[in-house]
Amino acid sequence: MIRRLDDPRPAFVLDTEKSTYVFRILPTGQPEHLYYGPRIPIAGMQDLAALEEKHVFPPGNTILYDQEHPEYTLEDCCLEFSSLGKGDQREPFVEIRFPDGSRSSDFRFSDAEITDTPPDLEGLPSAYREDGKAEHLAVWFTEAGGSLVLELHYCIFGECICRSAALRNEGNEAVELNRLLSLQLDIQGCGFSITSFHGAWTKEMQRSTLALPAGKYVMESRAGTSSSYMNPFFLLHAPDASEEHGACIGFHLIYSGNHYEAVEVSPYGKTRVVSGINPLGFRYLLQPGERFIAPQAVMCRSDAGFSGISEELHFFVREHVIRGRWKHKPRPVLLNSWEACYFNISESRLLSLAKAAKKLGIELFVMDDGWFGERNDDSCSLGDWEANPKKLPGGVERLARKVRALGLDFGIWVEPEMVNTKSRLYAQHPDWVMSVPGRAHSEGRNQRILDLANPAVQEHLIETLSRLLSTAEISYVKWDFNRVFSDAFSPSLSAARQGETAHRYILGVYRVMRTLTERFQEVLFEGCASGGNRFDLGILSYFPQIWGSDNTDALCRVRIQEGYSFGYPQSTVSAHVSASPNHQTLRDTPLDTRFHVAAFGVLGYECDLRDLPKRQREQIAADIALYKEWREVLQFGRFYRGRTGNLHEWTCVSPDGRRAVGFLFQELAETAAASELYFPRGLDPERRYRFYSVEQKVDTIRFGSLINTQAPFHVKQGSLLHRIIDHYLRQPGETEDYTAAGALLMAGIKLSPAFAGTGYNEKVRFWTDFSSRLYFMEAID
Ligand code: DGJ
Repeated sequence: MIRRLDDPRPAFVLDTEKSTYVFRILPTGQPEHLYYGPRIPIAGMQDLAALEEKHVFPPGNTILYDQEHPEYTLEDCCLEFSSLGKGDQREPFVEIRFPDGSRSSDFRFSDAEITDTPPDLEGLPSAYREDGKAEHLAVWFTEAGGSLVLELHYCIFGECICRSAALRNEGNEAVELNRLLSLQLDIQGCGFSITSFHGAWTKEMQRSTLALPAGKYVMESRAGTSSSYMNPFFLLHAPDASEEHGACIGFHLIYSGNHYEAVEVSPYGKTRVVSGINPLGFRYLLQPGERFIAPQAVMCRSDAGFSGISEELHFFVREHVIRGRWKHKPRPVLLNSWEACYFNISESRLLSLAKAAKKLGIELFVMDDGWFGERNDDSCSLGDWEANPKKLPGGVERLARKVRALGLDFGIWVEPEMVNTKSRLYAQHPDWVMSVPGRAHSEGRNQRILDLANPAVQEHLIETLSRLLSTAEISYVKWDFNRVFSDAFSPSLSAARQGETAHRYILGVYRVMRTLTERFQEVLFEGCASGGNRFDLGILSYFPQIWGSDNTDALCRVRIQEGYSFGYPQSTVSAHVSASPNHQTLRDTPLDTRFHVAAFGVLGYECDLRDLPKRQREQIAADIALYKEWREVLQFGRFYRGRTGNLHEWTCVSPDGRRAVGFLFQELAETAAASELYFPRGLDPERRYRFYSVEQKVDTIRFGSLINTQAPFHVKQGSLLHRIIDHYLRQPGETEDYTAAGALLMAGIKLSPAFAGTGYNEKVRFWTDFSSRLYFMEAID
């Protein structure tokens, strides 16, 4: 609920079920932040006196805001936004250059309104409710010069408070907007820790935590995408916060371009958090009558540690970000052609792969890169979205028909925002490409980025993709984006507007995505940017899932997917089982493990199933059948992390608490290890469950020369004889099967002992490097 309290100065109270957020207008006209914490009762204005900071004498050499209020310096106030030039030395929220060249801006409260309609962010995605409503507070501040109005918008969605801002030019002259962020949160106190998620290609979402006693920590992207360098999602928390305990605030930005997040500690013991469009290179010419809108930022707090905040954020993303037909719909198990074929595809090759996929229970066959123009490597044809007649003589249409005739859905890969200079599109429209005229262009993957700031380019993409999706029966699209920005320049914008290029590009992308997803509502769209280089809530507002990483190695994926799990639900992360040795790391990992890790996302396969030995194909068929039985829990269940480190321990629990899947993964085997426990989380403490595992048989060959401790004759390791024995003889795997109350199970289940060099039978857990188990829990009442 949102309330306004008045008399003599307005205050605003935003209550979610578990939290309260309060700010009040200072006598100087700026909004002072008073409280963001666990829900507290606020009966009326009189209660705020206890929450208000007592400003009497501003510290030492600080700047007085004005002579009328000698007790205030903006440098030492908690503010809902801050501008340059009036004494606040910290990160500004808004930076303006006026026509006379001055940069000092001074916004004071003018009005506020509470409605039940969310703000229209005009082309930017934002959180929503199915009924189209949302509690919404708009507060307006007028600049001292009288011509600019700053709008702050607050909306409540469940436990999340969403903020956005806009600047209106009501004057007669243009001003230059150099920064307008989306969120500023000033908190009393310092010494908080920040957990952020950084990385690179094939190494997305690496978690790092640091304590910030002083100074500033910046998380940003200048890549033109939200980027794998630094995801726009991060956490601010108590230094001793753990998975289950401690105060945490989670921040997301619903935006897919250059972003900037900073946490700054003031010398006076206050912590400022900001998030929004990266000001670096940003410059927006705001003409009289124009309004600039900043993207929506999300914040959410919990006292139940990291898992607590993840649970709130997962719910928010599933309910208030993901839209359309696929919102709650189980996602199909797919086979993607990329790592099986790379560019070497043909109708017959794809069909034989699809047949093999169908036999194993796969539901959707996806043709990846290589199907169009002259595309035999990555040097050409992006932009020419017509099938290569040599590879697909009957076009996409005939292939799709034949794949469907096998009983599979058909999906396709595209990279619409890109063009190769070796393409028909580039030859026809060299001016549709982002590059600086008269200068050499620095390329990435031999390709350039189309100027999506240009409405003609947006129209072209809408038309081309609509044609593709209408001519063939396509039920899934993988939308790729394989390079970052360089020489960003929009030939469609004037010199004075070049600072708007990156933002207008993203608005263009959103327009194309919005139009196509509205037009083709049945199609399941999956985002991708060389893996997770554009994994954010902006893309998820249009596409319900994103390819998490080009790295499909199970060990790397555990870490990457664990990173995503802090802020993104499992249904948004697509994950594939691929070949071993893995194509990115050359690491060998067991098929069981590859399946277990990928099952904690939207499961797919990406390897040549035809080449696999029969035993592995049978196992894949069994794995897929198992996944289908549990996929609603795995894709949409409540997710809990347990231990993270050498062991990774996860649990997914169905919304009604009756079914759960647990996961235990070991990075490296240890000797003389302690007796192992698995700790499920999120079960109903009172309810009784059957807890069990499915036997994982072990290939005899994995015991190496230890075979000679059992065999009646000598077996040379790796010999034909060794392989023949392995073919006919598999070793049993342990099973666990217990019945108990949820509370007892959550206290820790003592598992069968791990192999420790002293003997092996069906009561011992074969537990090596990269081993894992799935545990199933079902209510029995
Ligand atoms: C990068 C993607 O992340 C891969 O999965 C694959 O689709 C290639 N692009 C194709 O070029």
